[in-house]
Amino acid sequence: MSSAHLQQPAISLARSAELYRRARVVSPGGVHGDGRFYDPHPVYLRSGMGSHVTDVDGNEYVDFHCGFGAILLGHSEARWLADLTERIKTGTCLASANEAEVELSEKLVSAIPNIDMVAFCNTGSEATYHAIRLARAITGRRKLLKFEGNYHGWHDYVAWSTRFDASVGGPANDPVPVPASSGMSDSAADEVVTCGYNDIAHLEEVVEEHGAELAAVIVEPIFHNAGVVMPAEGFLEACRTVSTRCGALLIADEVITGVRHGLAGVAARRGIDADIMTMGKAVANGVPLAVVAGREGIMSHLRPTGDVLFAGTFNGNALSVAAGISCVDRLMTEPQIYDYLSALGRRLAGGLRDALGKAGVGARVQQYGSVWALYFADRPVLSARDLPDSGTTKSGPRESAYRRWMLQRGFYIHPHYFLRGYLNASHTEDEVDAFVEASADYFDQCSA
Ligand SMILES: Cc1ncc(COP(=O)(O)O)c(C=O)c1O
Repeated sequence: MSSAHLQQPAISLARSAELYRRARVVSPGGVHGDGRFYDPHPVYLRSGMGSHVTDVDGNEYVDFHCGFGAILLGHSEARWLADLTERIKTGTCLASANEAEVELSEKLVSAIPNIDMVAFCNTGSEATYHAIRLARAITGRRKLLKFEGNYHGWHDYVAWSTRFDASVGGPANDPVPVPASSGMSDSAADEVVTCGYNDIAHLEEVVEEHGAELAAVIVEPIFHNAGVVMPAEGFLEACRTVSTRCGALLIADEVITGVRHGLAGVAARRGIDADIMTMGKAVANGVPLAVVAGREGIMSHLRPTGDVLFAGTFNGNALSVAAGISCVDRLMTEPQIYDYLSALGRRLAGGLRDALGKAGVGARVQQYGSVWALYFADRPVLSARDLPDSGTTKSGPRESAYRRWMLQRGFYIHPHYFLRGYLNASHTEDEVDAFVEASADYFDQCSA
């Protein structure tokens, strides 16, 4: 598929370019996180409202980034905003026990079937860090089994094989854990084993070999860090079975899927009783709040009832908790939001598939609920190894050309290693249809 003849964006990004020149002098790459940089410079956003974001040049886009999935109700959604505005008047960081934390904890415990207790922190990375430390303390073992491509945060425990790179990743039946960063502790390499997502046979082998040393198996119940990769039939069940068999804890990392696909997350709804669940992102509709959750017998190992250190100045801060209560309340009282999001997701995916079919472009759309992915590939993506070459670069030529086209037409898809989009409850059918139409125009030009 050639895209060389496609037009470049006509919209002006002059102020973004200028900001980038300033920003890179004062911050590495002009950004505050690797996921935000892209060539030739990021589009610097100024504001978000509902389903839209506006950049510093005044261009308005329908937003399919949704804060890496954190925006579920919509940017600054009216009722959520009113709740936050009330809260901000009366102190945001009490950093002491408070009533609102109790209220949110009770709500989550009542909404999620297989947990008795929750503990609040701020980011998904913190949540997985605490979950793994808890698993190590309880089992007295050190090793973690994680799946290639699954992303659980930036810390040394989990920053392994977050992308599949054929030059260093080893064969599928003998994968090599690849550090995602320099500067990681040497000992961390001895504490992780990897396995392909959805590869039940290899999972059995890894557990056969390392089971006695495993503290935990950690898994994304839907593999959104490769777009939309569903767990194959029996895969999550196998994660549960092998963990139980070898005495490791199963951690369902629902930092994306929790709340976004239902309050209880994905694993519990599929009948998988994980020992620890982590949540983050959308739980407070875009204010930092993350959750470690589990049965009392697990959670009570955290201090002060147990001996596992759990602390943080901003844990359960009043702003995050108010945002969490507002968002969770809304989802509890209006569960039809999920039906709406799923219908919108199906509409978008179906529209894209039709458009691809009509244009004769060999690409795939995978979608679940409010998340969709478009892969310029002709085979299904079932694991990190199936990702097209864009799985290791943010600037794959086909993906970049499509994104630029869509930006020009008023749709923001965040440059990532593949094309992934999130919907929020403020998106409309008209916006989705317009997006499909603009995509269809793009595909038509590609096939011309
Ligand atoms: C499944 C999963 N777990 C954990 C994290 C880390 O969350 P945070 O970026 O809030 O530290 C992410 C972030 O994308 C994630 O997708």
